[in-house]
Amino acid sequence: MSTTEQRVAVVTGAARGIGAATAVRLAAEGRAVTVIDLDESACKDTVEKITAAGGHALAVGCDVSDEAQVEAAVTRIAEELGAPTILVNNAGVLRDNLLFKMSTGDWDTVMNVHLRGAFLMTRAVQSYMVEAGFGRIVNLSSSSALGNRGQVNYSAAKAGMQGFTKTLAIELGKFGVTANAVAPGFVVTDMTAATAARVGMDFDDFQAAAATQIPVQRVGRPDDIANAIAFFTGEDAGFVSGQVLYVAGGPLD
Ligand SMILES: NC(=O)c1ccc[n+]([C@@H]2O[C@H](COP(=O)([O-])OP(=O)(O)OC[C@H]3O[C@@H](n4cnc5c(N)ncnc54)[C@H](O)[C@@H]3O)[C@@H](O)[C@H]2O)c1
Repeated sequence: MSTTEQRVAVVTGAARGIGAATAVRLAAEGRAVTVIDLDESACKDTVEKITAAGGHALAVGCDVSDEAQVEAAVTRIAEELGAPTILVNNAGVLRDNLLFKMSTGDWDTVMNVHLRGAFLMTRAVQSYMVEAGFGRIVNLSSSSALGNRGQVNYSAAKAGMQGFTKTLAIELGKFGVTANAVAPGFVVTDMTAATAARVGMDFDDFQAAAATQIPVQRVGRPDDIANAIAFFTGEDAGFVSGQVLYVAGGPLD
C-alpha cells in the first residue's frame, strides 16, 4: 500500500470520551475509522462528527471481551472498510473498591474488558497488519498502573497493558508493526465524572482538587490523549515501539 491510500483504523470504546476524541482525530489525519462500542447506536455521534468533517467512519457494536463478537466485528470491518492496520485498544470500565470489599465479579469484569478485550482485538487484527507489512497498535494504560487506592483490579489491568504492549512490540516488530501504550492521568470524561459521583463530590470541585496535584495545574481533556495516540499511529513513528507514554500534565514514572 502506498502511504497516500487510506489506512483503516479501529478505535474501541469510541462512543464517547477519549475513544471518541481519538476516532475524530485519526479521521482528521485521513484514516477511515471504525468506531466500536458496546451498542452500535451509541456510536452515532462520533460517526456523524467524522462524516460531517468529510471523513469516513463505520459504527460497529461489539463487546470487546466476547471472542465471537470480536471475530465478527473484525471480519465486517475488513469487508466494509478494508484491512485494519491501526488499532487503538481504548475500551474500559471501572469497578473500584477496596480489596476487602471487591467482588470476584468486579475483578473479572475489569480484567475482561481491558486485558482480554485488548488481547482478542489485537489477535483478530494482527494478520491484516502482518499481511500489509504495516501496523500501529496503541493500548490505553493509566497512571493508575503505578498503584491507586481502591483500584486493585484496574491498576493490575493497566499495568498488564504495559507488559502486553512491550511483548507485542517484540513479537510484531519484524512485520512493520509497532505497539505503544499511552497512560493518561486525570482526563475529564464520563469515567472521571462517575468517580466523582461515587465519592460524593461535585465534578467541578473534583477536577479543581485534581488540578492542584498536576504540575501543569489543569486536568486533561480527551484531545490531549488523542494527540499522543495520533503520534504513535503516524506513518513516521515506525521506529518508536514498546514505549509507555504518561500523558498526565507532569512526570509520573
Ligand atoms: N478518564 C481518565 O481519566 C482516564 C485515565 C487513565 C486511563 N483512562 C483509560 O482511557 C480509556 C477511555 O476512558 P474514558 O475516560 O474515555 O472512559 P468512558 O467511560 O468515557 O468511555 C469508555 C467507553 O468504553 C466503552 N466500553 C466499555 N466496555 C466495553 C466493552 N466491553 N466493549 C466495547 N466498549 C466498551 C464504554 O461503553 C464507553 O463508551 C479507558 O481504557 C480508561 O481506562 C482514562
